[in-house]
Amino acid sequence: MPAGLLGIEDLTRQEIEATLLRAKHYQTVQHQAVKKSDLLRGKMVVNLFFEASTRTRTSFEIAAKRLGADTVSITATGSSVSKGESLVDTLNTLAAMRPDAIIMRHAASGAPHFLARHLPIPIINAGDGTHEHPTQALLDALTILDHRDSLEGLRVAIIGDIAHSRVARSNVYLLSKFGVDIVLCGPAPLLPSELSSMAPGVRLTYDMREAISDADVIMMLRVQLERQHESNFSPSEYFQFYGLSLEHIGLARPDVIVMHPGPINRGREISSEVADSQKSVILNQVENGVAVRMAVLERILS
Ligand code: CP
Repeated sequence: MPAGLLGIEDLTRQEIEATLLRAKHYQTVQHQAVKKSDLLRGKMVVNLFFEASTRTRTSFEIAAKRLGADTVSITATGSSVSKGESLVDTLNTLAAMRPDAIIMRHAASGAPHFLARHLPIPIINAGDGTHEHPTQALLDALTILDHRDSLEGLRVAIIGDIAHSRVARSNVYLLSKFGVDIVLCGPAPLLPSELSSMAPGVRLTYDMREAISDADVIMMLRVQLERQHESNFSPSEYFQFYGLSLEHIGLARPDVIVMHPGPINRGREISSEVADSQKSVILNQVENGVAVRMAVLERILS
């Protein structure tokens, strides 16, 4: 039984490079008139989303279909979870129908790992709580490599709600394996000091201008109101100190790219002028999501 994909932390640099190489191949397929193959014909992939998603759920489904697999999408509201069924019972029920892989998003950190320990089916983590979002980090790396020859030696500023961000964690794990200089920046309540020791090459600052200075990549993060229990900044207060506006761009390298995993909150963490500017690669990230997820499904299922 091939392994699934639970996180970036345990992947080797070689495994990441191999996945990105296949994703590069699938990038070219996106531009062909016929995008569909039958590589995964006969395979059944279950998309199990206990949290809202637009990009990840849709792109996994498109990726699976482009590889010829059959897909079923289940959301918590449309399933028996809404009738009080436990996670274990839901998962055993689905497993009894013998899918070939389960793609899972859950609000609880570690939920896909729990599933992987109990089911003899490859599990792909589509985002677990504040822990990891591995395919997001892979598609982010692919997007950076569309604009740079190598990740080695780059300076990447990740700015916003770091504390609650599985995207930040997966990106830190991935980028640190490639010798990237990573600056994490956010307001003190959203930037725990212990994050500085999570991987080599990571430093923290509360000063957004310092974080952006000489950056090759600015990665903005959404304030995850759904995961915060403490009092929040108002949108305008937050934007004043940690929102990305055009005046910040001049502090970075001239060829800087601006990234955001989405969904974006215009006027809170990023201005519309930046989100819609030539520097923004936000929609390229979305496009690369399909290619990366095709590469991941191929590695796990073919
Ligand atoms: N980036 C991301 O995970 O977006 P969705 O929540 O829309 O899937």
